[in-house]
Amino acid sequence: MTTPPTLQRIVAEHKAIAAMMNVMEAEIIELEAKGAFDIDLVRLILSYMAEYPDRFHHPKEELLFAAATAKRPSFATLAAAIHDEHENLPGATEDLLKTLDVIEIGQSMPLDEVLGALKSYVVNQRAHMAAEKDQLFPALLEILGADDWTVAEAQAAAIEDPLAGGSDPGPYRRLQDLILAAV
Ligand SMILES: [Fe+2]
Ligand SMILES: [Fe+2]
Repeated sequence: MTTPPTLQRIVAEHKAIAAMMNVMEAEIIELEAKGAFDIDLVRLILSYMAEYPDRFHHPKEELLFAAATAKRPSFATLAAAIHDEHENLPGATEDLLKTLDVIEIGQSMPLDEVLGALKSYVVNQRAHMAAEKDQLFPALLEILGADDWTVAEAQAAAIEDPLAGGSDPGPYRRLQDLILAAV
């Protein structure tokens, strides 16, 4: 079976998230080396994460998980850890944005603590996507049939991520430019 459009969309979104994590990693290295980083850029990435992946990407995956669980109940066990992460990842974005607020208003926070929070965020996002790619997506392709994918696509197509094929990046043009520059 060719890759269903919904999964193509999800994979494109993973590429955008991965690109953003690469940019964050470069800023972490900068902060570690020089004690300063582009806080506006990291904030913009986290705003994008909160506005698109946290709100629309993971729910899209959950639609597919629900369809797969309906057809094969054991899929729920495979998806359990990822499902928990879907509950927690939006909170991680909010927490990191609050950490940036604290730094920006000049309240002191140990550098190690800031670096630790930034690094954990990147590590967790990458691990989350890797587990989905390696374990869940192959299982979805095995379990779901053409009709299931058609139903999923009807539900999943409404929101376009501006960094994954959506037309106007709006406030995220700087992020889109970085993706284009990295290709
Ligand atoms: Fe996810
Ligand atoms: Fe994902």
